[in-house]
Amino acid sequence: MSRNYYIAGNWKMHKTRSEAAELAKALAAQLKDGKHRYLAAPSFTLLETVAPILKGTNIRLGAQNCAAEEQGAHTGEVSVLQLKDLGVQTVILGHSERRHVYREDDALINKKVKLALSHGFEVILCIGELLEEREAGKAEQVCEVQTVKGLDGVSAADLDRVVLAYEPVWAIGTGKTATPEDADAIHGFVRRVIARLYGPAAAEKIIIQYGGSVKPENAAALMAKENIDGALVGGAALKAETFVPIAKFG
Ligand code: PGA
Repeated sequence: MSRNYYIAGNWKMHKTRSEAAELAKALAAQLKDGKHRYLAAPSFTLLETVAPILKGTNIRLGAQNCAAEEQGAHTGEVSVLQLKDLGVQTVILGHSERRHVYREDDALINKKVKLALSHGFEVILCIGELLEEREAGKAEQVCEVQTVKGLDGVSAADLDRVVLAYEPVWAIGTGKTATPEDADAIHGFVRRVIARLYGPAAAEKIIIQYGGSVKPENAAALMAKENIDGALVGGAALKAETFVPIAKFG
């Protein structure tokens, strides 16, 4: 496979500055010789602390969200300009917690995707179905709609800076992982959606991460699948002891 594995840690709403600095230092030291691409995405308030620790390492700095507008009267939001100023390189968008807890829809997520790309960021666009959608046989349909709408208006050139993360909602933080076969089937399906939209070369190139209870014990089996190109890790990203073995799977 010509695609490079990309392992990302989503720290969600965890850690104080000192805890974040400790984790970032441990990751920088222990992943120094890691062979894959890495990312850590701490809360907005931790970015300024973590940025200098990751600078010059093989771990990119990510944010977990951004506003859909560049700046202005948007109380409580954080702008791409502010993220760029802090050295953020990647923005995670459309995470299921943003979609389902904070009611972000595909149109809003698409606006954020285009804004972040226009400011030079890499975007990790998360997609994934709810348990009831999977049980109703709609997993592919949901992932297709989220992919097509999330990427609406994104040029083929900008797609180079888009990573997809398939995160079945029922597997996030639940300890339930999709089987490598089930995950790979959706990844393959989504890759065909990208082929339809952008052509086979773009589909072959795009990185599709899997997320949802990735752990040191299951990482290698997931990564062994043809269409799984990395992981977006939540709970297990909060400690170097669990993130490093995932990041160095195999
Ligand atoms: P989890 O979270 O690894 O804790 O399931 C994954 C995610 O939400 O990105």
